[in-house]
Amino acid sequence: MSFDLVLFGGTGDLAWRKLMPALFQAFRHGTLPEGGRIIGVGRDQLSHEQYRTLMHERFNNVDLAKRPSEEEFARFAQLIQFVRMDLSKPDDYVALAATLRERNANTVVMYVATAPSLFTIVCEQLGAAGLNTANTRIVLEKPLGHDLASNRAINKTVCKVFGEKQVFRIDHYLGKPAVQNLFALRFGNALFEPLWRREHIANIQITIAEELGVETRGAFYETTGALRDMVQNHALQLLCAIAMEPPINAHADAIRDEKLKVLRSLKPWTAESLGQDVIRGQYAAGSIMGSAVPGYREELGVNPESHTETFVALRTEISNWRWAGVPFYIRTGKRLAGRDARIVVNFRPTPHAIFNSQIGASNSLVINLQPKDGLELHLLAQGTSHRRQQQALSPVQLDLDFDKRFGSGRVGAYERLLLDVIDGRLNLFVRSDEQEEAWRWVEPILQHWKNDAQGPRPYAAGTWGPSASSAMIARDGYCWSEES
Ligand code: BG6
Repeated sequence: MSFDLVLFGGTGDLAWRKLMPALFQAFRHGTLPEGGRIIGVGRDQLSHEQYRTLMHERFNNVDLAKRPSEEEFARFAQLIQFVRMDLSKPDDYVALAATLRERNANTVVMYVATAPSLFTIVCEQLGAAGLNTANTRIVLEKPLGHDLASNRAINKTVCKVFGEKQVFRIDHYLGKPAVQNLFALRFGNALFEPLWRREHIANIQITIAEELGVETRGAFYETTGALRDMVQNHALQLLCAIAMEPPINAHADAIRDEKLKVLRSLKPWTAESLGQDVIRGQYAAGSIMGSAVPGYREELGVNPESHTETFVALRTEISNWRWAGVPFYIRTGKRLAGRDARIVVNFRPTPHAIFNSQIGASNSLVINLQPKDGLELHLLAQGTSHRRQQQALSPVQLDLDFDKRFGSGRVGAYERLLLDVIDGRLNLFVRSDEQEEAWRWVEPILQHWKNDAQGPRPYAAGTWGPSASSAMIARDGYCWSEES
């Protein structure tokens, strides 16, 4: 099957850091269909050869194990071309159409990895140039819009030009192996399903913590912030995966229907809950792995008086029979104490304790997304042989490390998702109604912050965020998993 993959934003950060390395991995693994061509699109005046040279240099920043050898690069580079375009100029799309006609590939993928403000114009122009034929798929990076209205406007334009089945709204967290395994755990095994409900689960915590700051993306981040960058998409998709009902089959719409129901069941915000259940923070100078790092306001491209949040912690509930009353806590931030993405399912304690050390202790299931990818089941066991302590229980854990079990060469998120686009599999992509619902739910938070002159609470880089985040969860009598 031949394909052309056109990468708008072909000289951008995402292309170099994630997309090209992922395409190379697929090429190396032999899973990239043969007869492919990858066309980087950018504003610079570059020849194919100059673009390949740039890419070669950028591969030096990729993990050593994922870097191509000279010989591999030379073969991969044969697939790569460059087209210069001004995305606002109709003639440039006509020229692109002519380039694509040269091959008449079976499948054409338009990957729009540009600033979100360009999505509408790119879609309109693709339509005007007749580049929306039935064999074309369009991939849109998140965030799609900056609020509900802009998301709707983009989706309206996209859906005028492309059918919903041609649109691949990417959320790379859905491509992570640990998320695939979460679906496998829940819907491939009968063990947890009877326990997966309010009668047995006390609370669920979703943490996506990063050590990195905003790096070179200060200007982008200023207009985005953690709520739009991480909560509206990645964190809510994880929440859907953990809370959804079993779909009737593994087809895209069956899965997306169930995720949509979760989003629709999220408890609506009230003035009270907005005040006490949503904490925003911003990193101040601090230290990461022993090295001093500047605060957010000192970063390149950032307003020295910025109110943009780099941390969000919130508490919500899902109003349905399975989950009513179970708190779901979401927390994400930059420059935190570690790179650590995990979901912790805390079960209720036993109804009656016969061992002294058991009082208040409970089991938990930890789904680790990164840096380690695996599952931990935290149990209590009797480990000591001293007679006087015979009845003392100690915490132990069953540990399933997916890298050890299946090898570390498993398919990464972007690699998996890019192959899915080329193959036309929509399961791991977000439908417009899901996305709209997620925006609808975060919108009151955005409004609340707009009217709140106080701004985000500062936290020192290298910590777990403002102390108000721990206070929020402590109100329910719980603590974040690393505090227990
Ligand atoms: C992106 C965000 O979607 O996800 C970034 O825009 C963030 O700000 C990144 O750093 C995190 O992805 P991962 O896969 O490294 O956890």
